[in-house]
Amino acid sequence: MSDVTVDFSPAAAPLAEKLLEPAREILARYPAGRERSALLPLLHLVQTEEGFVSPNGVAFCAEILGINKAQVGAVATFYTMYKRKPTGEYLVSVCTNTLCNVLGGQEIYDGLVEHLGVGHDQTTPDGKITLEHAECLAACDYAPVVTVNYDFAVDNSTPQAAVELVEQLRQGERPMPSRGARICSLKEMQFQLAGFADEREGAVADGPAGAPTLRGVTLAQEHGVAVANFNIDTPIATTKPARDESAKAVKDPGPVSAAKPAEEKHGGLIANVASKVKSAAATVADKVEHRKAGAPVKAGDDKDPETRAAEARNPTGDTPAPDATSAGLPNQTPAPTNAAEAAGAAKNEVAGDGKPAGDTERGESIVQESAAAQKQPATTNDNPGWQNAPRGNEEKK
Ligand code: FES
Repeated sequence: MSDVTVDFSPAAAPLAEKLLEPAREILARYPAGRERSALLPLLHLVQTEEGFVSPNGVAFCAEILGINKAQVGAVATFYTMYKRKPTGEYLVSVCTNTLCNVLGGQEIYDGLVEHLGVGHDQTTPDGKITLEHAECLAACDYAPVVTVNYDFAVDNSTPQAAVELVEQLRQGERPMPSRGARICSLKEMQFQLAGFADEREGAVADGPAGAPTLRGVTLAQEHGVAVANFNIDTPIATTKPARDESAKAVKDPGPVSAAKPAEEKHGGLIANVASKVKSAAATVADKVEHRKAGAPVKAGDDKDPETRAAEARNPTGDTPAPDATSAGLPNQTPAPTNAAEAAGAAKNEVAGDGKPAGDTERGESIVQESAAAQKQPATTNDNPGWQNAPRGNEEKK
């Protein structure tokens, strides 16, 4: 397919003019007939030009792969790294997940919201910075972390360090990151993500793991903790080990057993099942007799603990209050035992307001105030690029 000529629609043609060659290179990496698997790198390739997955980018991917736009959209909207509206030159991600949050991630995010005047997934009016709070960025050992275009920019960050970083970026500087490759623009990063080498000096970096990453190993060594029989030089097996035939021989009942008549072979199993059925029937009969005799129904909670726990999480009108003593479950939220716990419980109300985690009331009010002050709202339209998609050209080729 990589050398097939595609008759692109007017929507896809301008991108095809710029991206056809690298797109063909991507398609050539896949076996014949499996080219649709190239959709992920192709979407990154679109972002190198557009800065997001534009409607024209969707058309380009669909047409070059011979699939429909709904299929492209289903993939593009699933992954957060495919942006659905124009994105700034630098995507600044602040981890607000568990460990980073405990160590100040939310304060860093709130500080940037206040400083930049934009909220989650919004871009500064100068088009330089798109801010987002992110789930775990896989650097918990350096928490709290801030990345720029997916590179680790500030480890063990603070609100002040994060503000300094975005200010440098807005001034056109590219500060040295805490570790890893040199900071690049989001479009340059998309080229790497599409699977092409970045030739800039220092664009790719590697190195040994840092002390925080190796902390567990270091502690184990210091305390003489080791895994029994562990040998670091043991080669990793690349093929399945041969089957141990002697073990099979022990399990295999052999020709003596095979020669037994079928009734004899299965007799034990049938007897076992029959005995269980008989026992269950007797239990049911006992219960029926018990009820008939007018015995009081036991007031306890006889449901199994998993059912009871599920009901407690999602009660309905006819769900009886769980009986803590018989089910072994608490029938209410445990009361805080000290002032710190009480303060923590009050701050952490149950989620369910439909907002993405990390957006606080404080952050929202900051954005509204800032936008009002500038009389120029930040990019608050949801998905403007996709809303502007021309209608009526679906599947016209
Ligand atoms: S929790 Fe922030 S990097 Fe893992």
